[in-house]
Amino acid sequence: MKSCIDFYDDSADAWAEEWYQNETALPYLKRLVEYTHKTKPRILDMCCSAGYQCMRLKNLGAEVVGADLSKKSLKIAREKNPDIPFYEKDMLFSYADLGKFDGIICVGGIIHIENSQMEVALKNMAEVTQSGGYVLLVYKDGLARKDSTTVKGVEYARNSISHTKEEIIKYGGKYFNFVEDITQADGGWKYCIFRKKY
Ligand SMILES: C[S@@+](CC[C@H](N)C(=O)[O-])C[C@H]1O[C@@H](n2cnc3c(N)ncnc32)[C@H](O)[C@@H]1O
Repeated sequence: MKSCIDFYDDSADAWAEEWYQNETALPYLKRLVEYTHKTKPRILDMCCSAGYQCMRLKNLGAEVVGADLSKKSLKIAREKNPDIPFYEKDMLFSYADLGKFDGIICVGGIIHIENSQMEVALKNMAEVTQSGGYVLLVYKDGLARKDSTTVKGVEYARNSISHTKEEIIKYGGKYFNFVEDITQADGGWKYCIFRKKY
């Protein structure tokens, strides 16, 4: 079976084609930037895929850094955004070499995180968030899970794990306070703001 990251490498062009045009995340990104109360906040896009949300954050005035594990996605991200730095990074390992951020977005990334890994992923976010900084966490709400994805007969170990707010608070409450659920439309995805504890 091919890996989860093979899935994102093999579908990187399709993600770029759809999401450079699709503005669904824009109001949420604006809210995160507003929360920082800075005109040029430093923001990390954790699980940035082909760089489309990084582009939007930059257009909103942020200094942006993108990180993902899919080499093909990162190649597209760099080609389309030559002035934004992109790094190959795993959510389950430290990002400390990238410095501190006023805000972090992680849009859809934690669908690949098991509850047993959640504290590590949230700790890694907390480690690079300034005290009092903000995180926009976008996750699939609920208890459902899927362990693989098949595309045109090719099976990938691409999991998709839903989470609840209570689970996130259970594993991340040491590092973050829940601030607000800013979800505007219910497509099963939750858009929530968390604040790094001092
Ligand atoms: C559902 S996509 C979301 C992409 C993007 N954030 C968006 O707004 O559409 C999940 C992304 O997480 C990345 N990813 C999966 N596992 C990862 C890991 N352990 N560390 C870093 N990135 C990972 C994938 O390469 C993919 O780009």
